[in-house]
Amino acid sequence: MSLIPDDVIEQVREAADIVGIIGEHVELRRTGSDFRAPCPFHGGTHRNFAVIPRKGMYYCFVCHAGGDVFTFFMKKLGMDYPTAVREVARRVGITIPERGPTGPDPREPLYGAVAAAADWFARQLRESPEAQVARDYLASRHLDLEAVLPLGLGYAPPPPPQTKTFHDAMKGLGLGDEVLLEAGLLAKREDGSLMPRFRGRLLFPIHDLRGRVVAFGGRILGDGEPKYLNSPDTPIFHKGKLLYNLHVAKHAMRKAERAILVEGYFDVLRVSLAGVEEVVAPLGTGLTPEQAQLVKRHAPHVILLYDSDEAGLRATFRAGDELLRAGLRVSVATLPPGEDPDTLVQARGAAGLEPFLKDAVDVLERKIQILDRKGLFGTLPGRRRALDRLLPTIRAAQDPITRELYISRAAEAAGVRKDVLEGEAQGARSREQDHPVGGRNRSPLPAPALPASAEKALLLLMLEGEPWKSRVADAVDPEEFEFPPYRAVFESVADDAVLALDDTSARAFEHLKAEGLGGRDPNALYERAVNWMEARRLERQLEQLDERLPFESPDGQVSLIAEKRRVFDELRKRYPRYKIAARRRGAPGT
Ligand code: UTP
Ligand code: MN
Repeated sequence: MSLIPDDVIEQVREAADIVGIIGEHVELRRTGSDFRAPCPFHGGTHRNFAVIPRKGMYYCFVCHAGGDVFTFFMKKLGMDYPTAVREVARRVGITIPERGPTGPDPREPLYGAVAAAADWFARQLRESPEAQVARDYLASRHLDLEAVLPLGLGYAPPPPPQTKTFHDAMKGLGLGDEVLLEAGLLAKREDGSLMPRFRGRLLFPIHDLRGRVVAFGGRILGDGEPKYLNSPDTPIFHKGKLLYNLHVAKHAMRKAERAILVEGYFDVLRVSLAGVEEVVAPLGTGLTPEQAQLVKRHAPHVILLYDSDEAGLRATFRAGDELLRAGLRVSVATLPPGEDPDTLVQARGAAGLEPFLKDAVDVLERKIQILDRKGLFGTLPGRRRALDRLLPTIRAAQDPITRELYISRAAEAAGVRKDVLEGEAQGARSREQDHPVGGRNRSPLPAPALPASAEKALLLLMLEGEPWKSRVADAVDPEEFEFPPYRAVFESVADDAVLALDDTSARAFEHLKAEGLGGRDPNALYERAVNWMEARRLERQLEQLDERLPFESPDGQVSLIAEKRRVFDELRKRYPRYKIAARRRGAPGT
């Protein structure tokens, strides 16, 4: 058993949401600044058990059970101290190297290998004579080495005779070929021999949400193909489920209440170094639904800041529709021809960018502008074509008010009756619902019996095989599973990885397999469970807002309360049924 440093334990205790955690086990109700419930330890019926968030403590006035968030887990769930600390740490996103009694995370070696490689690449960029070419390249793009080193940029040296060095360095650290291959750091040649994947490239480390390096994006220096080479998908990296810079941007996104989406690594780098930190980019693919959901979790509004050329516009609108489907507000900023955020900020600084962000227009409005400029609204067949271009965006809008506005605006622009357009948008919509590929149905839900919990329902669905497995894996993230054995089962099924499940998880897995769907309608079950999970996400958001409230300035409190109202309304509007359940549990406060 490994020792967890005291300051880490302290940090975890600080960050823990004791009310949220204990509230999962007992029905807490707010009493003044504390929360009360019947005591889960002596099994009382009166609300003698108090949770005091200010002190991070709980206490029963009858049986005198008391302690902190760790002792709660120990006494209630029979965990030992390190396990309890790890469990709480996991929930607050603090990483403690896994060496506990439950056995190591099987992916731990991969994180280790990628981290070691990142260090080595960064050191090359910093001090290796060979890396002069990379340092010169950065200078040619007017990027200061001192500014980019803290971001973890690195350099992978080129092919022979130097290729051995990376491989040798990793070997010297005790990293075997197998783990280096699995982490995407080595690649196999046709003849079976091994070579470093990244050769002669400037490397951008890609971090997961917890700030661990999981992959790299590598730009060629000089001519060559491909311009950018990314790590392959690995057990710790799924390029469609992560955004570049999100681990940094998420905090800024919360504050700014917006995200700026750009196309590439250099755009992110430049904009973020200029002090506009809420900037993220996809990882060499079009924006995926999972990425849209990721953004949604941290900000309500996205400004798309792509190149203004044809390709940039196509990518803009594809991403825009995906973001609308996630229920986000979407604007498009238009840069001068030939500029991208990188060149613009390089030339004019963050102050030069601000007007373009300020002038960003709603994504549908931008589409109308462009169609109008092409003269499409001038002729009847043109109008028809224009409408065909607008309809996907109208249909994508998940938010009912946005949708309503879009229909009115498009009807006006194309000179058609609103109800006609409404019908057309609707027609395809209900067809989509017959074949729900990714799109989520938020209409009033039938109420199939939900197995004990939504988490469990989702796992039962996954065990039915495809398409349920993929749909569930796409719709929720492992972190959303609050019952650790279910999270482990989810990860092992989703990743097709026969992970070494610990005993409890393996037993849970067996039970789930034995239970099966039992004739329940998978469609209805899916909708209900996914919606429930989403509702819980919103509820968590409310709780987090509550926690921040006491620490804000009066102005900050006003805007937090407005934010709370917004989230609460969304919760109530979209999930009336969930709200009732939440009320009964004594959360969330209004
Ligand atoms: P760009 O080619 O527009 O990138 O591709 P950029 O950042 O402007 O490149 P520089 O300024 O010439 O260095 C945008 C993004 O598309 C992905 C990368 O994520 C890149 O940042 N991409 C591009 C690839 O994944 N592979 C490629 O071959 C090219
Ligand atoms: Mn560029």
